Amino acid sequence: MTTTSQQTDQKPELIDLHPPAADMEQLVRIGLNRCPRQLPAWFLYDEEGSRLFDRICEQPEYSLTRTEIALLKSCAAEIAAAIGEGVIVEFGAGSAQKVGPLLNAIHPAAYVALDISAEHLGKATTALQQRHPEVPMLGICCDHSTLTAVPEHPLLRNQRRIGFFPGSSLGNFEQHDAVHLLRHFKQLLKGGPLLLGLDQPKSEVRLEAAYNDAAGISAAFARNLLHRLNADLGANFDPQCFQYQARWQADQQRVQMALISSCDQVIRIADDRWTFRCDEPLITEYSVKYSPERAVALAQLAGWRWVRRWHDPDDDLSLHLLEPTD
Ligand code: AVI
Repeated sequence: MTTTSQQTDQKPELIDLHPPAADMEQLVRIGLNRCPRQLPAWFLYDEEGSRLFDRICEQPEYSLTRTEIALLKSCAAEIAAAIGEGVIVEFGAGSAQKVGPLLNAIHPAAYVALDISAEHLGKATTALQQRHPEVPMLGICCDHSTLTAVPEHPLLRNQRRIGFFPGSSLGNFEQHDAVHLLRHFKQLLKGGPLLLGLDQPKSEVRLEAAYNDAAGISAAFARNLLHRLNADLGANFDPQCFQYQARWQADQQRVQMALISSCDQVIRIADDRWTFRCDEPLITEYSVKYSPERAVALAQLAGWRWVRRWHDPDDDLSLHLLEPTD
């Protein structure tokens, strides 16, 4: 564990627990051996991937982020009254664009941001700290799905933990993994509540456009995964030999995003080889959409009691408040 100490009063501390390259290589091997081939979605978020994801959030077709921020602004006071006091722990904070209204309404004892991209996290918490100098902040670079415990830190000592998992990031996990992750958050939060943002099913046309924008940013975001594997693991992917595809799978209530091999090709990492046939997919991520009823069922399966939800005027997405059952 390396700790970057505060350089100025305004620069939050950053704890780096990023999984080592050897672990990543092992996960890539497992993913490439799967049928169909599929890599963990968090691999998409190196520095460039995080930057591209921010651009996706600005695309006219992808309204999720804008809608959720507007909802948080309009409901922050009600959420604060329902959620109580403590330290806010945000899972997958990204650019930390969403927590502002909660900081203003909850006045938390501290804000702890977890994210997989160290560079992005450092920039995001530094910028947020300038806007909220009154809130002590801490960044933890990690894969929150495998983090065994939130590191002991004075900012968390004797504080109730309020989990915040917005952006429908839970949708990037398949059903059994989503249940497992929610159970895991229960442990990390040690009895505290969770505010969970989930996108809801909508028309196929809308969803496929949201995940395959006309400007090509979603496609660039997916292809960046291949650039990353080349740079970090010495793989030999030619990103131009893969076509990006986003498809709504109604039976599973999810969008599947994949890179489709446009020819027969052999991918090498160190001494291993994988043959991709023409038209064979490499699944880069799923984005599962949860109706309010399905969200309640999911929470219950994972040992959470569903308390209430807030939604935008079009009922496109929800913020669900969950309390642990025991
Ligand atoms: C981070 N996550 C919730 C996004 C989503 O909507 O599933 C990831 C994404 N991938 C492409 N566009 C958005």
